[in-house]
Amino acid sequence: MSHSDTFDVLIIGTGAAGLTLALKLADNVRVGVLSKFHLTSGSTFFAQGGISAVLDKTDSLDSHIKDTLNAGAGLCSEDIVRLTVSQGRQSIDWLRKQGVDFTKEISGQLHLNREGGHSHRRIVHATDATGKAMSLALIERAKEHKNIKILENHNVIDLITADKLDPALDKTVVGAYVLDTKNQQVKSMAARVVVLATGGASKVYLYSTNPHISTGDGIALAWRAGCHISNMEFMQFHPTCLYHPKAHSFLISEAVRGEGAYLVDAQGKRFMQHYDERAELAPRDIVARAIDNEMKTHGVECVYLDISHKSADFIKQHFPTIYEQCLTLDIDITKHPIPVVPAAHYTCGGVVSDDYARTNIPRLYAIGEVACTGLHGANRMASNSLLECLVFADRASIDILKTLPHLPRLNLAIPKWDESQVTDSDEEVVISHNWDELRRFMWDYVGIVRTDKRLNRAMRRIELLKDEIDEYYSHFKVSSDLLELRNLVIVAELIVRCAQQRKESRGLHYTQDYPEKIEDLKAKNTCVSPEMLKKDRK
Ligand code: FAD
Ligand code: SIN
Repeated sequence: MSHSDTFDVLIIGTGAAGLTLALKLADNVRVGVLSKFHLTSGSTFFAQGGISAVLDKTDSLDSHIKDTLNAGAGLCSEDIVRLTVSQGRQSIDWLRKQGVDFTKEISGQLHLNREGGHSHRRIVHATDATGKAMSLALIERAKEHKNIKILENHNVIDLITADKLDPALDKTVVGAYVLDTKNQQVKSMAARVVVLATGGASKVYLYSTNPHISTGDGIALAWRAGCHISNMEFMQFHPTCLYHPKAHSFLISEAVRGEGAYLVDAQGKRFMQHYDERAELAPRDIVARAIDNEMKTHGVECVYLDISHKSADFIKQHFPTIYEQCLTLDIDITKHPIPVVPAAHYTCGGVVSDDYARTNIPRLYAIGEVACTGLHGANRMASNSLLECLVFADRASIDILKTLPHLPRLNLAIPKWDESQVTDSDEEVVISHNWDELRRFMWDYVGIVRTDKRLNRAMRRIELLKDEIDEYYSHFKVSSDLLELRNLVIVAELIVRCAQQRKESRGLHYTQDYPEKIEDLKAKNTCVSPEMLKKDRK
């Protein structure tokens, strides 16, 4: 059975990016918003540290821009950085209007945290659970709006472009096929504009700070539809993920280091001063690589983050969620150091999009972590991501509201999903086995430190898995696990292809074969497009 829905704008994703856009459009147009699981399943809900914005009197936009460019190691687009940073204050004001209650000083002013790479205190936050406060407020506002239809448990399988329906037409996006996972029914949805707000792809690695949904679906959907994808080699590893057999992907916020925590070895000795003069407050790529090096050199499974020199009251007041979570695992962070390891955290690359979030496919936009706007370059600075979600949702809303009234109606009939050639899966184990295998070899061969040999090894395995997964996909009915695996293997391929293009070490991409940054060339973004791959194969 199949059934269809029609929207002016179809937004795929209910994180900070998707819901901000929905709220900015809904007074004027009818919006459908999809989440493949429940509404708080994206990374947004789990964000801890906060949102960067220049609010302090001693801070300046130029300083925020300079810090972002520094962290981005020569690859940020300065125009995009300026555009984003200059909207910090208005983004925070908008969130407060939606009901987000940020932490304040006794004076009533917003309290500002400090994080790695930032030369000033400029992180607006709701204690250490900023994402939860944001998500809950945006969800409440979106649920109240009569023009927003929210559909949970709706997993987008593929985008539909006009050329698929009529080869004489171009690649304009016209809708999507969507698996309603509760009813196991594939729906076809038509829309005049489609927006990818699907978050990142860090689940392509065995160890990640991200929730389960971060399987890079939007990047794979865009890729199959014909989008250009850039800078996928820059996968960010957060230095401090809690290391405990019972802890599931729990992050220890960078704000803990911002408030003075030390990184120490098992003997309690600090080591970051040997790697960078900013020590614990160096940008993430440097801290994560230093920890990786300490672990490999000394053959240990983790290092430690120690904030116990601060008063217990201070710790409990600033980091209530982290304190409680660690206590449930018998770690009292007011007395003992926290065992930590680096873990995959953020996808700096993604779907190439411009200053209004437009992709190279007509009527298809990309916002939030799925997009590659040029803001982060080779390494995202802490707390710039939520800001990017808000700013580019706003930019997309401006362009959509301006162009939508003039878009010709295509009136194409979208065919129903055809399940006549497929049966129920006979061996689910193929999916779970391939999930594990993929994430493990990506961790081992395409992780914090790379070599040509490891990348080639990974690519050989990706080719094999792709064949197996494609065959499985063409024979059996779709399930969420299968869809995610099909997307993850594409994401893995794109990461390796971009990494193979970069013959230097820069920002988050470090390879032992080319350990230096190539200073004398104008730094370039890597890019892959379906046309480019077709040419390579000829
Ligand atoms: P997400 O919030 O990840 O939402 C993605 C949405 O897309 C979900 O609703 C999901 O269901 C939906 N979706 C995905 N695929 C499909 C599909 N196929 N079909 C239908 N729906 C789909 N950044 C900061 O700036 N500050 C911080 O303090 C901070 N802390 C962080 C802490 C943690 C633990 C993590 C994991 C990240 C943190 N980040 C932080 C990064 C930041 O949270 C994310 O980059 C940001 O929230 C991404 O928002 P988004 O709207 O792009 O995507
Ligand atoms: C953190 O709180 O350390 C995460 C901040 C971020 O990823 O921007």
